[in-house]
Amino acid sequence: MEKALDTAKLAEFYGDLSPTLETVKEALVVAGIDLAHARPNDLYERDIDCHNLGMFRMVQFVADVAADHAMPNRDDVVLDVGCGLGGPSRYLVDRFGCSVVGIDLLALRIQIAEQLAALTSAPRVSYRVADATALDFDDGTFSHVWMLDVSIHIRDKRALFDEVARVLRPGGILVMHEQTGPLPAAMRPARRRAPYIAPTLAQLIRHIENVPLRLVAWRDTTSLALNYFLGVRDLLLSASEPIESHRKTGVPILDGYLETFAHLDGRTGVLIARRK
Ligand SMILES: C[S@@+](CC[C@H](N)C(=O)[O-])C[C@H]1O[C@@H](n2cnc3c(N)ncnc32)[C@H](O)[C@@H]1O
Repeated sequence: MEKALDTAKLAEFYGDLSPTLETVKEALVVAGIDLAHARPNDLYERDIDCHNLGMFRMVQFVADVAADHAMPNRDDVVLDVGCGLGGPSRYLVDRFGCSVVGIDLLALRIQIAEQLAALTSAPRVSYRVADATALDFDDGTFSHVWMLDVSIHIRDKRALFDEVARVLRPGGILVMHEQTGPLPAAMRPARRRAPYIAPTLAQLIRHIENVPLRLVAWRDTTSLALNYFLGVRDLLLSASEPIESHRKTGVPILDGYLETFAHLDGRTGVLIARRK
């Protein structure tokens, strides 16, 4: 019951945040891109298909941190849990030459991820609808699990990390980005729209080490997230388009994040763990 409610809220929240194929095409045309020759980087470098707490800049940073430990090579297959519109998965292929399977709970997001992969002739990616707490993959299928700003939406952390550990091969790497709790009252506007269940960093590490995963690194990214939210707020307030409804719902959410990151000790970071 609670899970069905969470899914319904996520569908509405991310439905509002998801562009259509047509609006993406329009954005590319305005940017002077020939649609017949569009490439994945035409999207992710413009933040069109990255949807996390720092967009493409954050994806690059997370990949830089992960590369210090063990990043995929051409023969590896990465699972991107909560892949959203697929920008991070296509960036991983471009940067490391690996293959990526993206899964997301929401059919709409997977449909758009597939459309954008087709639009940009993206190689070595595939997408499917799946719940991260009940994955339909054999044990040890993946060399890496990549999960950017997804676990905060998932109530059953035990099931989530059980599944992550199960589908990773021994020695495989979990790369995740997340905001840690406790979430202050300033985050209420966001929490009203979608499930946000954020453990403290210590609790998150306990969840991870309760399954056969061992923490390798945590790198704070709060200043990157803060800068990103400042930029979006400026953009939203200065946009000439009549987007009053976006301003009404978007600005209180942005302000909540800004207050949390700038004044209330809210943190975000990259966490790397290794499968035992
Ligand atoms: C903040 S977005 C991040 C998208 C993507 N990782 C990125 O960085 O662009 C969170 C995503 O997690 C997905 N999600 C939430 N709960 C999920 C679950 N139980 N299983 C799979 N995906 C889930 C949402 O649908 C959404 O697309």
